[in-house]
Amino acid sequence: MPAISSSAPGKAILVGEHAVVYGQPAIAVPVEQVRARAIARAAPGRAAGTIRIAAPAIGLDSLLDDLLPDHPLAAAVHAVLRELEIGHPLAFDLRVTSTIPLAAGLGSGAAVSVAVIRAVAEFLGRRLADEQVSRLAFEVEKLHHGTPSGIDNTVIAYARPVYFERGSPVNRVETIPVACSFSLAIGDTGVPSPTSISVGDVRRGWQARPEHFERLFRAIGELVRRARQSIEGGDLEDLGECMDLDHALLVEMGVSSPELDRLVAAARLAGVLGAKLSGGGRGGNMIALAGEGKAGLIGQALLDAGASRVIITTVRASTASFATGERMKEEENEDADSGG
Ligand code: PMV
Repeated sequence: MPAISSSAPGKAILVGEHAVVYGQPAIAVPVEQVRARAIARAAPGRAAGTIRIAAPAIGLDSLLDDLLPDHPLAAAVHAVLRELEIGHPLAFDLRVTSTIPLAAGLGSGAAVSVAVIRAVAEFLGRRLADEQVSRLAFEVEKLHHGTPSGIDNTVIAYARPVYFERGSPVNRVETIPVACSFSLAIGDTGVPSPTSISVGDVRRGWQARPEHFERLFRAIGELVRRARQSIEGGDLEDLGECMDLDHALLVEMGVSSPELDRLVAAARLAGVLGAKLSGGGRGGNMIALAGEGKAGLIGQALLDAGASRVIITTVRASTASFATGERMKEEENEDADSGG
């Protein structure tokens, strides 16, 4: 039996982070330059049902049965076995690797889950629909982050630009046509920042000053709708302005940091169309929308300003679009934190 390999991209949130947890829309794009990969290979010498998981980057090499059920890798494998109603699969080895930085707002956890879910399902002879993959990855996200919006697993499972709105029980997921290709320079502050912390702080802020925070969430939602029109209409100047305004609102929300602000300022000085933090904030990555042919220059300006790493990615023009309602089973626990 041949080994089955599956990989999934990282992601960047273009506009709408944090407000998306509170029901506003957000737009995210895949980042193909960094990927998580999972390889499933038969282990014919072992008893049926024994699954070994190796993830060298985190020093893991263990049998599935020896891992706690809420370990993210174990949870992803269990989710597939449950979905396919398979109790004792053929013995296999699963190897997981990733080039996506951890706790940096690039979706590493969701990408690992998506790669594992697809590799295991295919190894067991089933190809899951993107929607199914996204739903299973969301189950894993919830275990660790409480109330994630679902945007990470969605954009990574579909691997296309998505307009996402959390709903209960059905999320709105639309892949959006891109009228004109655009490039992003993604600058890493090098400061690890678990999303659960900034999401928790925003929740506490919202509980203390609901009107203030709801005004910010609504203003961000408006920008996301405007940004979508800019992407569909090919107006990159306007998209850049939406990103700048979004960053200002995120600063007001308290989720930026001196390092993020420094990279955003350096990008603007180098002549971007727009720049903002991306993801949970406080550290992790920022993104800059580069005018045509300028991404390399902007990337260099970010490195000069102290970025620990720069990724240049291009979102290609495409006419394809579709919409779906995704049922995500998000009944519980409005008080828990989210994370990434
Ligand atoms: O840090 P990331 O990329 O996982 O971003 C999370 C985005 C938030 O809106 C802050 C949280 C969420 O669950 O959507």
